[in-house]
Amino acid sequence: MSANSAEPRVLPLPLLDHHSAGRSAVTCEYRCGNACAHDAPNESDNSYFGDLVRGVVNRRGALRAGAVLSVAAGATATAVGTAAASPGRGNGHGNDSGAAAVGTDFDPVPPNTQDRVVIPDGYEQQVVIRWGDPVLHSAPEFDFWNQTPEAQQTQFGYNNDFAGLIPLDRAGIHNLLVVNHEYTTETHMFADYDPDNPTEQQVRTAWAAHGMSVLLVRRDPARGGLSPLPSWYSRRITLRTEFELRGPAAGSELLKTSEDPSGTRVLGTQNNCAGGVTPWGTVLSGEENFHQYFAHADQVSDPETRERMRRYGLGTGSSTRKWERFEKRWDASREPNESNRFGWVVEVDPHDPNSTPVKHTALGRFKHEGATIRTADDGRVVAYMGDDERFDYIYKFVSSGRMKNGRSAHARRHNMSLLDHGTLYVARFSGDSPASEIDGSGELPSDGEFDGSGEWLPLATGDTSHVPGFTAEEVYVFTRLAADKVGATKMDRPEDIEPNPSNGRVYCALTNNSNRGAAGHAPVDEINPRIGNKHGHVLEIRENHDDPTSTGMSWGLLLVCGDPEDAGTYFGGFDDQVSPISCPDNVAFDRHGNLWVSTDGNELGSHDGLFAVPVTGPERGHVKQFLTVPNGAETCGPIITDDIVTVCVQHPGENGSGPSDPGSHWPDGGDSQPRPSLVAVWRDHGHRVGEIGRR
Ligand code: FEO
Ligand code: CA
Ligand code: CA
Repeated sequence: MSANSAEPRVLPLPLLDHHSAGRSAVTCEYRCGNACAHDAPNESDNSYFGDLVRGVVNRRGALRAGAVLSVAAGATATAVGTAAASPGRGNGHGNDSGAAAVGTDFDPVPPNTQDRVVIPDGYEQQVVIRWGDPVLHSAPEFDFWNQTPEAQQTQFGYNNDFAGLIPLDRAGIHNLLVVNHEYTTETHMFADYDPDNPTEQQVRTAWAAHGMSVLLVRRDPARGGLSPLPSWYSRRITLRTEFELRGPAAGSELLKTSEDPSGTRVLGTQNNCAGGVTPWGTVLSGEENFHQYFAHADQVSDPETRERMRRYGLGTGSSTRKWERFEKRWDASREPNESNRFGWVVEVDPHDPNSTPVKHTALGRFKHEGATIRTADDGRVVAYMGDDERFDYIYKFVSSGRMKNGRSAHARRHNMSLLDHGTLYVARFSGDSPASEIDGSGELPSDGEFDGSGEWLPLATGDTSHVPGFTAEEVYVFTRLAADKVGATKMDRPEDIEPNPSNGRVYCALTNNSNRGAAGHAPVDEINPRIGNKHGHVLEIRENHDDPTSTGMSWGLLLVCGDPEDAGTYFGGFDDQVSPISCPDNVAFDRHGNLWVSTDGNELGSHDGLFAVPVTGPERGHVKQFLTVPNGAETCGPIITDDIVTVCVQHPGENGSGPSDPGSHWPDGGDSQPRPSLVAVWRDHGHRVGEIGRR
C-alpha cells in the first residue's frame, strides 16, 4: 500500500489554540476510569501559573505557525534536519553540518490532524492486524454488528497497546508478535450498548476482548511488510485465562478469595498497558488501571481495607462497565481481596501456547505501566517499572538469581523464576540546583540542567520487609503505601521506563501532571520542574558505576516537552530545528541507541505520534516526528528494528460519540467503524529505517 500519496503533508495548524485536553472524555472514562478526575483541578481563586505560561506561549505561537507553514509551502522537505520544526531552546548545541544521526535520517512528519497514519516520504505502511481479525484458526470473520464472546476469544482483542516482536531466526523473517489489549470501550464497540444496562453477552465479549494476543508473523524481506501466519503459537489470553500468582506474596491471606482459597490462581489479566521483551524471550506486561473494574469499595466494612482501596483508586458505587452484576468478584464489598489479585506485572511465554502465565508478586502491586529488563555484569537481572498515576513512583527490582543465557525451554523456565526472588526498590531523587531556581516555569536553573542524584530505597527482599510497620506481604500487595512510608519522590505520572542497550542509561517518560504545584499538592522540584505540567518530560538515569544493581544514581532531564518556542521547554540542549512533542508515553530504542518516544494526549493540537531523538553526540535532543496516528487515537507500543517500525494505534475514533457517529473511519475508510490496529512502516527499496542510502 502506498504511503503518503498526493495528499498535502502539512496542515496550517493553529497549534496552540487548543483548549480541550488531549484526550476525549470517553478515553478517560474507559481507559483509566477517570483517574485524573479523582483529584479535582484547583478551582480556588489562587492564580494558576500554568495559565500564565500558556498565555506567553499563545503569543509566541504565531511565529511558530509561520515556521510550519513555510515548510508546507516548500512541499516535501528534502534537506535533512531542517523540516517541520521550530528552533529548540537549550544550552547550545546544534548540527551545522546537516548530517542526521544514524537511524534518524528521515524527513520529519509535520504536526497534523489527518484521519490516517502519516509517515515520512519514501516509506510505506500496512495494517498488520485489526481488532477482530483472526488469531486462532477457528476464528470466524469479524462482524461488528453481531459480536459474541465465543468469536472474540479467537480474534485479535480491543485497544492494542504494547507490542513485542521476538525473532525466531537470525534475519528476523519469522517472529513471535505479542500484543496487549489494554481496555474496552463498550460505547464504541457495540452498536446497541446501554451503559446503564449492559447485556451479559456484551460483558462477556468485553472480557474476551481484554488480555493479550500471541501470533506468528512473517516479515517480507523483498517487498517489506509484516503478515500474520496461522501457527501453533497462536494464542488469546483473556479475562478467563488462568494465571499463577508467584513470588513471596503468593498464597497470602491478602490474595485469597472464595473462588481461590489457595491465593495462587487468578482468572485473567486486565488493563495491560506497556511491557517488555525479556532477554530470555518472554514478555512482561503491566496491569495498569485495574481499579476501575471494581464496584462498591465504599461499602467495604473494614476501614483499613477501605483506606488501602482508596490509595489504589477504587471507586464508590457501581463500576463504569457494571461487571459486578454478572460476577461477584468485581464487587469489592463482596470479594474484597479480588482487586489485590490485579495490578501486577505478568509474564507470558509465547513460545509455549500451553504455558500458564505468571503474576510476579515480587515486583510489587501498583498501576504498573510495564516492566523492562537490563542484565547486570554478574548475570542478575533488573526490572525497571513506573506507576502511572500523578504523584506516584518509579521502582526497580533486582533479582537474587542469575540469568541462564539462551532462549531454550530450559533457560526460559529458569529465567522465569528470576523475578520471584530479589529486592524491590523505590526511587528518591534530589536536585543539585537551589530550590529558588526551580520557579515552575520550566526555565533552566543557572547550572544549565535539571539534574541531580538519587537513591534506590529498599522495600522488601524475599520474606523480609525493609519498611517499618509493614510485613513483606503487605509491602508487595500494598506497595504504594510502603513507598509512601519511606519517602519516595512523587513523580509526574511515570509511564514507560526502559534501559538503553547502547549506553546503559535508563529513560522514563513522565506524561504530564495537571496538579503539580496546585494548592494542596506537591510543589515543583528539580525532577518535576513545571507547575501544572501539561506536556510532560523525559528523564535520563545513569546508575552509579553503570551498574543496574547499584543503589545510587545520577539523573538529568533529556526533554522538557511542549512547544519548542516556549521558554519552558528543553530539548537536550539542542538549539536547532526540532519537532514539537507533547505527553511522552512509551519509549523504545533502535540499534544505534536513538530513543523513540510515542505520545498519548498531545496538548499542542496535533494528533499523537512517534518521535526519534538521538541521546548522544551533536544531535542529542534533536527530536524528529516519524509518524502521526488517526483521529482520536494514541500511539502505543513502538517497535524499532533496522527494517521495520511498528506502532499500535489505540482507540481511533474515541473523539466521536460511537457507532452512529464514528470519530474516525480508520483503517478501512468509507463509512466503516474504526478498529484499533497494529501498523508496520518500512522504507521502500529495501533501505534501512532512518539510514538514507543504506540497505
Ligand atoms: Fe495505559 Fe500509562 O498508559
Ligand atoms: Ca541542576
Ligand atoms: Ca501507556
